[in-house]
Amino acid sequence: MHLDQLIYEGKAKDVYQTNDEEVLRMVYKNQATALNGKRKEEILGKGLLNHQISDIIFSYLMANGIKTHFIENVSKTEQLVKRVEMIPIEVVLRNTIAGSFARKFDQVEGTKLTVPVIEYYYKNDALDDPGINESQIFALNFATKIEMDEIKKQVLQINQLLYKLFKDINIDLIDFKLEFGRYHGELILADEFSPDNARLWDSKTHKSLDKDIFRKKQGSIIPVYQDVLNRLKNRNEAI
Ligand code: TMP
Repeated sequence: MHLDQLIYEGKAKDVYQTNDEEVLRMVYKNQATALNGKRKEEILGKGLLNHQISDIIFSYLMANGIKTHFIENVSKTEQLVKRVEMIPIEVVLRNTIAGSFARKFDQVEGTKLTVPVIEYYYKNDALDDPGINESQIFALNFATKIEMDEIKKQVLQINQLLYKLFKDINIDLIDFKLEFGRYHGELILADEFSPDNARLWDSKTHKSLDKDIFRKKQGSIIPVYQDVLNRLKNRNEAI
C-alpha cells in the first residue's frame, strides 16, 4: 500500500491509508448530499463542524465504556482511526417518529415511540441503501448472529448515553445512524456521529438542529451545526 493512498471516497468523508497498516486518516469534507447523493452542495465549514461534534460525542462514548475506532486528531478536519473491517450495514435507532418511518407507516412526526426502534439498511449506493432484516443479513453473510446481538446491545447502550447527553443541552435525540466494524475479534463503533446522520430537535421549539435543514431547503446548516457544537462545548466546560 502506498503512503496516504485514498482508499474510500465517501459523500461526507474521505479515508486514506497511512504508513501504519492498522491506521487510517479520515478527512471530513464540506460536501452535503441529499437523496442518496443525487443533490450535492459544497458548504464551507461543514467538515470542520462535523469533525468537532463527532469528536466530542465519540470522546463521551469512550469515557462511558464504548469502544470506537478513534485514535487522535491530526488537524481540524482530520483524525486517525483504527483500520476496521466495516460491516456493510447502517444501523438506525429511532426514539421518536420522523423521516422515512413517518412516511412509510403514515404516522405523525414527533410522536415518541413506546420502545426504541432499530432498523438496518444495506450500504450500497447503487441500490439506494435498501432496508434489510436480520435473516437476510445472516443469509448473505454480512454479519453473524453473535455480531448482530452485540450491535443491538451497543446501539441501545449508546442511545441511553446520547439521549442523556443531548437532554442536558436541551436537545431531543429523535433518531440516528451508526456503523460498526470488526477490529481484532471485537465489534467497535466506526464512522461518525454528527447532525448529518442524526435528528436533533431543540427541546423547547422542536426546531431541527440537523441535516433536515438541508434536506428540506430551510436555509444554511452552518449556524445550526455551530449551535449544536456550542451547546456540547458549554456542557463540557460546565462539568
Ligand atoms: P430516515 O428517517 O431518512 O430513514 O433516517 C433516519 C436517521 O438515519 C436520520 O437521523 C438520518 C440517518 N440516516 C443516515 O445517516 N444515512 C442514511 O443513508 C439514511 C437513510 C439515514
